[in-house]
Amino acid sequence: MKLKGEIFELDIIIPTYNEKENISKLIDLIENILKDIKFKIVVVDDNSPDGTADIVESLNNKYDNILILRRPFKLGLASAIMAGIEKSKGDIIAVIDADLQHPPELLPQMLDKLIEGGELIVASRYAEGGGIEGWNTFRRVISKGAVKLAHLLLPSTRDVEDPISGYFMFRRNLIEGLEFEAVGYKFLTELLVKRPGVKKAEVPYIFKPRRIGKSKLGLNDYYKYALQCLKLARYKPLKFILVGISGILVNWGILHILVTLNIPIPLASPVAIEISILNNFIWNDIWTFRYKRSGRRLIRCLNFHGTTLVGALLNYITLLTLIRVGFSYMISNLIGIFLGFIANYLFSGIYVWRKI
Ligand code: GDD
Ligand code: MN
Repeated sequence: MKLKGEIFELDIIIPTYNEKENISKLIDLIENILKDIKFKIVVVDDNSPDGTADIVESLNNKYDNILILRRPFKLGLASAIMAGIEKSKGDIIAVIDADLQHPPELLPQMLDKLIEGGELIVASRYAEGGGIEGWNTFRRVISKGAVKLAHLLLPSTRDVEDPISGYFMFRRNLIEGLEFEAVGYKFLTELLVKRPGVKKAEVPYIFKPRRIGKSKLGLNDYYKYALQCLKLARYKPLKFILVGISGILVNWGILHILVTLNIPIPLASPVAIEISILNNFIWNDIWTFRYKRSGRRLIRCLNFHGTTLVGALLNYITLLTLIRVGFSYMISNLIGIFLGFIANYLFSGIYVWRKI
């Protein structure tokens, strides 16, 4: 197929599970919308009990560009997409749900954007002009929460408003050499993490209520998604918290030892704080953020000190103030550390490691 001087093959992957009422309508629509373009449709069906696969098979009398991949069990949406990609050969791949919640009318526009130099085009409910119809507040909050979680834990998803979209188009060379886990159902999220910096664009659309049938995604899928995000983030948030806790113990322990050795608190506390900062830096550097290191360790260490400065001062001032009003020094230090920790959390992870 040739469009705007580019020669390409387009494959459209449709994962299905119990979509007998929707699939022929969707395929008819796609065939009509893309009638001037040569493309293939790859339906990946997980042995739907309602006979979706047989319906697709019967469409072969009408169209000559439909492939059906039958899998023996319900193996999950992301893995169905993966299987579809492996089965297809096109250098441009689109993924769309079978239930008509993703309007196929968007395909030509997405293709245009890709040909114009994009590598990944995301159909987006959250980009300006997009939206969702017919969802109750609960589903809205859950979905928005899932987007926020991706943005928080996975920096390379931040410039995409809808990183959990199930409707997208990309160039095959994007995924060459990548290993996908394809767990859960958010294939796009994993792609955004494993290919940071791709040339991407979003096309807004309105996510309509399902016409027939019901969603197969439940709360359990959101739970799995949260775990997947944590895993894709290489457990950095958890590690960062653990390192923080170790720092609290170091600060507290050293202060206790120094005070027992009769060193005055205004002098002992800065030493305890400095050693805990070094403790946190070393663990974060060799463990939490080890994949993101670059440049000289000394520079990172100085940067880290910069970002913990506010926290350290807050710790110190709180300690001295609370002692003055009558608290024990250990309790005062604990509260000081806590306030300092919050300040640190806001600065350090963001500045020292994200920039490099
Ligand atoms: N082969 C296969 N195997 N297909 C599946 C499976 C499975 O285990 N589970 C779901 N599907 C198919 C459905 O038949 C449908 O075509 C598509 O995947 C989406 O499933 P829905 O159950 O309709 O999901 P949803 O509407 O709640 O959410 C969809 O839209 C969101 C917004 O774009 C998904 O695509 C989400 O990933 C997406 O965030
Ligand atoms: Mn749906």
